[in-house]
Amino acid sequence: TSMTERMNTTEIFDGVRFPGFIHTPESLKAACSFQFQDTDILLVTFPKSGTTWMQQVLSLIFCEGHLWPIHNLPTWARMPWIEQISFDSLHSKRNTSWPRLFTSHLNAKGLAPALMKSKAKVVYMARNPKDVLVSFFHFHRIAGFLPNPSSFEDFVDEFLEGTGFFGSWFDHVKGWLSLQKDLTLFFVTYEELHQEPRCTIRKLSEFLGRPLGPKEEDIILEHSSFSFMSQSNIVNYSLLSKEIIDQSEVKFFRKGRPPSQPPSKYPRPILGPFYPFFVCVCFGLVGWLVGW
Ligand code: A3P
Repeated sequence: TSMTERMNTTEIFDGVRFPGFIHTPESLKAACSFQFQDTDILLVTFPKSGTTWMQQVLSLIFCEGHLWPIHNLPTWARMPWIEQISFDSLHSKRNTSWPRLFTSHLNAKGLAPALMKSKAKVVYMARNPKDVLVSFFHFHRIAGFLPNPSSFEDFVDEFLEGTGFFGSWFDHVKGWLSLQKDLTLFFVTYEELHQEPRCTIRKLSEFLGRPLGPKEEDIILEHSSFSFMSQSNIVNYSLLSKEIIDQSEVKFFRKGRPPSQPPSKYPRPILGPFYPFFVCVCFGLVGWLVGW
């Protein structure tokens, strides 16, 4: 089958739906028996949890200030997805001076047996599910290989039931967290990278055995910022054709917003800075009415 014919197909693997455009039964199976080496680094995420962001941070940590790959190699070539069709060709073309960096969206049950045979390091990145859900909804609208959601309500139901593409967010996070003792795993959240990027990147680089100097940290912070990445054609997915990712209405780098805030209990957002003024007027009115 040609690539275009695969565009709207679905692969079901271990009860989970995957877009058939980028996965085959063989590619998914091969990932589960992949031979990891002790020096390998695998980034695992549920989609829309900041995968591209962490791919950028990890490649910056290992490029040691040589920014050629950052400006010339797309993130999927620097850190290919082990379960996708393109893996073998991307993997064979890779720069051998780095440790092998990989990415995966697979769940813990599928990958754990292969990972446990080595001391490979795993970086698991999670994001607040409400933000994952909204980002994933918009991604379904722009990705040609995912069906357009019929409505936001249906999409929410599917997300909560875990019947959507890539399976259940809840099982994904729970599964990988339960392996913390069995694997060399670094658990990191989108929110902490957002709130304390320097400190989070420092902890991550120590886990990877690559401590950074303050100048290196500055370079990483600059090149992994939302503003740099969203403007860079190499990482903002504009290299892909419109059939694969169509960013004419919604961008891949959509908001990059901090975590969802709980709704405020007070009417302040409506009145904003006029709130004190409003309170004074109310008191004045009451005072006038009762004849103070
Ligand atoms: P939004 O759709 O909420 O904007 P993934 O790479 O796993 O598909 O995740 C994509 C999400 O990560 C998008 O979220 C995108 O904007 C956000 N993102 C990517 N790079 C980022 C960065 N440097 N800083 C903050 N958010 C980033």
